[in-house]
Amino acid sequence: MKKLFLLTALLAFFTLVTSQKKCPLPKLLEPCKCTSDDYPVLYVCNNIIDQDALNTAFRNSYDYPLDALSLRYSSLLYLPISLLKTKNISFIAISDSTMASIFDEPPHRQNKLENVILRNISLQRGVDWSLFSSVSPKIIQIEQVAIKRIGLVFTQSIRSSLTQLTLLKTKTASFNEKAFSKLTNLHHFECSYNRIKVLKRSMFSDPSPLNYLDFTQVSFIFFSDCLLLFAMLDIIRYDFFFMF
Ligand SMILES: *[C@@H]1O[C@H](CO)[C@@H](O)[C@H](O)[C@H]1NC(C)=O
Ligand SMILES: *[C@@H]1O[C@H](CO)[C@@H](O)[C@H](O)[C@H]1NC(C)=O
Repeated sequence: MKKLFLLTALLAFFTLVTSQKKCPLPKLLEPCKCTSDDYPVLYVCNNIIDQDALNTAFRNSYDYPLDALSLRYSSLLYLPISLLKTKNISFIAISDSTMASIFDEPPHRQNKLENVILRNISLQRGVDWSLFSSVSPKIIQIEQVAIKRIGLVFTQSIRSSLTQLTLLKTKTASFNEKAFSKLTNLHHFECSYNRIKVLKRSMFSDPSPLNYLDFTQVSFIFFSDCLLLFAMLDIIRYDFFFMF
């Protein structure tokens, strides 16, 4: 009995030590919180209105791992990527916030950013796609963030690693002629509740692995080369108001 107790105590001690190793002491990370059941190490930062407080938290946790970061209900300038250099952040979600820009500089290659979710954020400088040119995200999901046009900067910055793109209620009205043409792995594209008027075959790669395209509630769609486009798709959801 005594032995068992000792073992339990030892185990508890080791768990404490290892979880402390992954998460910094809560006080150091304020106003953020760290949770870690081994993997992933998640930082949740809510209600941040002081950029310096966030910078201090990241400076204090400089030597600790970070896999996923969630920022919500905040008003600040940017996520200080310059203080996250050492981390493998594969997942970033920002929602219900106001910012000048998403990041202060492009994430570093070793940040391995794979999944980006932006929801209901107001960005003074708009979405600067060039901030993503150094990383290779696989999934980008954007909802309720104003992106009037997918222009040349998107085409030049977003790499062919992208497999899933969602632009939901982004007030998007137009795409560059070659908007998604470099995205040779894009198989899932959702662009619902937007104002797209023209969609062309040339906007996508050729051949294209696209098998899911959702343009629900787009007010008017014109497909040029529509036969080619349909031939390339396995599934199309179209609850359009108006087609052709
Ligand atoms: C980040 O990932 C690389 C390779 O996957 C690994 O060598 C490195 O130790 C990781 N760094 C951290 C801080 O987890
Ligand atoms: C969007 O975010 C703002 C804060 O920037 C918040 O006040 C508002 O309630 C959010 N809207 C929705 C629909 O969640």
